[in-house]
Amino acid sequence: MRPGDVIQTKRDYGELSPEQIDAFVTAAARLDGSGWEKYHLTALLMAIYLNGMTPGETAHLTRAMADSGKRLDLSDIDGPKVDKHSTGGVGDKTSLILGPLAAACGVIVPMMPGRGLGHSGGTLDKLEAIPDFNVNLTEAEFRAALKNVGLGMIGQTADIAPADKMLYSLRDVTATVESIPLITASILSKKLSEGISGLVMDVKSGRGAFMKTRASSRALAESIVKVGTANGLKVSALITAMDAPLGRYVGNALEVIESIETLKGNGPKDLTDLSVKLAARMVGIALGLSDAAAGAKVRAALASGAGLEVFRKCIEQQGGDPRVINDYSLLPHTDATVQVHTDRTGYITGIDAEKVGIAARMLGGGRSRAEDKIDPAVGIIVRAKPGERVTPSDSVFEVHYRDGAKLAAVMPLLAGAFTVGDAPPSEAPLILEEIA
Ligand code: URA
Repeated sequence: MRPGDVIQTKRDYGELSPEQIDAFVTAAARLDGSGWEKYHLTALLMAIYLNGMTPGETAHLTRAMADSGKRLDLSDIDGPKVDKHSTGGVGDKTSLILGPLAAACGVIVPMMPGRGLGHSGGTLDKLEAIPDFNVNLTEAEFRAALKNVGLGMIGQTADIAPADKMLYSLRDVTATVESIPLITASILSKKLSEGISGLVMDVKSGRGAFMKTRASSRALAESIVKVGTANGLKVSALITAMDAPLGRYVGNALEVIESIETLKGNGPKDLTDLSVKLAARMVGIALGLSDAAAGAKVRAALASGAGLEVFRKCIEQQGGDPRVINDYSLLPHTDATVQVHTDRTGYITGIDAEKVGIAARMLGGGRSRAEDKIDPAVGIIVRAKPGERVTPSDSVFEVHYRDGAKLAAVMPLLAGAFTVGDAPPSEAPLILEEIA
């Protein structure tokens, strides 16, 4: 099969056959001299970006990408295996909370989250803020974590969906990332490789999200539900607001603290509510419970401290220092903080999540390029959230910084990252839509 013919099919709005998709994916996984070169791959990616794919094509692409590498078989570990995936947001630390809560309710949670890129954070970076926490477990160690704790959180190994690694790196530099079929196949191929039977998707929507509009978020959520279901997964998707940061803490070590506080029952309402809701969806899918019954189980695990205990065991199992649960001074922290004030009295009407995320990245807490090193200690605490009253003596942001030059660069950004009005804004819902 000639690559040019495959590209032409999609260029001319045709439907790719399973054999054509297989040839493309095999080439992406290993350019083995079969006639495909990177320029063929990128030309086809652009044709898909422009002309789309049918759900059937996307489902086949997803399966082929998962099969391009190793698919974990966890059938020897008792219990339903369910994961959650978020499309990424600012202050979104729910995985550190809902993973332990779902595991405390009897779900096996084999998480392989990603690292932060751009303005949004990544679960692996947050976990690595915990001294000695190892996200590079061997498969045997990962299985032991799932058996002993019910929860394992590791980075994707090189043999998970290698076709996605190649295709994502090409999409990243050829303006073909924002394609619903390509995003669907990219996310789900990696999830299928985890050996799960169920997935809860948190599709973020708003100015701090990858998907800025409700329509694009809905299209992605619907595609993931349809294609995941076609590949044998039970999938449930929520579309949730990402206009303001989730919770108050943004930055890797800071987000670990807020996650632990939430597992202790002291978390901010938005973060607690969303974590409980997503965990309940996982429990509902895993145990076949109604939303109400699953929600009650998760809330009981939160109230009893069972979720916190799972997180403590998870840290210990993965080589980290579990004393951080009660002693936050063991986490990386900066010596210097500075407050950002408002110049007027009124109510916070908006906090721009994207600007806060960019500021956290510029302080050193995130990456612009995949190979950038991050500083786990830096970050921003949102002291005043939308709806809260402020006066000029109140802090809106508390900036934890290490480098004065970086601080100077972020201060103007943060000064423009909030708005103050005479009246509080109407309360905006956090959960915008539920799909399946
Ligand atoms: N996240 C992924 O894993 N893949 C995409 O294509 C986009 C976001």
